[in-house]
Amino acid sequence: MHEFLRNLPKVELHLHIEGSLEPELMFALAQRNGIELPYTTVREAKDAYHFNDLQGFLNLYFQGMSVLRNEEDFYDLAMDYFKRAREEGVVHIDMHFDPQAHLQRGVPLEVVMAGLLKAKQEAEDKLDLSIGMIMAFLRDRPAEEALHVLEQAAPYWKMLDAIGLDSAEHNNPPLKFVEVFKRAKQLGLVRVAHAGEEGPAEYIKEALDVLDVQRIDHGVRCLESDEVVERLRREQVVLTVCPLSNVSLKVVEDLRDHPLPKLLAEGLKVTISSDDPAYFGGGMLTNHIACADAFGWDEAVFRQLTRNAIEEAFVTPQRRQELMARLATA
Ligand code: HPA
Ligand code: ZN
Repeated sequence: MHEFLRNLPKVELHLHIEGSLEPELMFALAQRNGIELPYTTVREAKDAYHFNDLQGFLNLYFQGMSVLRNEEDFYDLAMDYFKRAREEGVVHIDMHFDPQAHLQRGVPLEVVMAGLLKAKQEAEDKLDLSIGMIMAFLRDRPAEEALHVLEQAAPYWKMLDAIGLDSAEHNNPPLKFVEVFKRAKQLGLVRVAHAGEEGPAEYIKEALDVLDVQRIDHGVRCLESDEVVERLRREQVVLTVCPLSNVSLKVVEDLRDHPLPKLLAEGLKVTISSDDPAYFGGGMLTNHIACADAFGWDEAVFRQLTRNAIEEAFVTPQRRQELMARLATA
């Protein structure tokens, strides 16, 4: 089974590139940029990665990315993950990135975009990996700021596959961002949003109704509302579920208690992603193996999950066909 999962052409729809920053690279970039970290060894950093909730993680996530200052830092960050993912048998990644988290620290949007776009180009040319770009807004920051960043990103609109919404969900309902998402829609940009990770099922409904999203990131708390489950099933809205993330952030106690099997049994369009692999114990292959071990799924289940992800990935029709063909022979 592990060999099958390694060879499966895995498609990742939910990945924060800043959350792929491994402590080894974090130390190297800190040294390169003369930045002081609160850890002295890789071991110490990893030992600090124990979280009680989403906010506890976000604090370390924002601290970790403080080492990213120049174009080459963003390039190194992305290439480091792309290579690792490819080795795990990943063939496509829709990558979230958080411009506000960098702008706040005085890093210009141009620097972030240049580094990430260079890595995307190289991955597509040389690694046989396709990359989607999701510019995410921090929901615990003011909506006016997000709107300003969206306008500032005008030179990059045509390079974006979607806009997203992430960070602290509690008390930051989708409704807060109605104007931002309306503007994105007007610009012809696809919309996705985190909802129902720590927030209630109501936020999933709100993200669909008010933000008109085509994808729900996480969404596991939909099971608290029959109405929301019915809606997700009827419209076959894809959920980008991140099993090891949910365990790390204590959305569930243990992977064996995870609602994934229930979500599948409800007929929902489920996919598996790693979210923040450097912080949550591993990438796509580790997440797949953990699910095989916890749920005893057979190959057919993983094929279905992968088919779901290929159908929903931000790729050209030609690439989608190519990935489907690869899945058929895996
Ligand atoms: N949830 C919300 N915001 C995030 C996450 C997450 O899992 N990872 C990075 N930003
Ligand atoms: Zn996420």
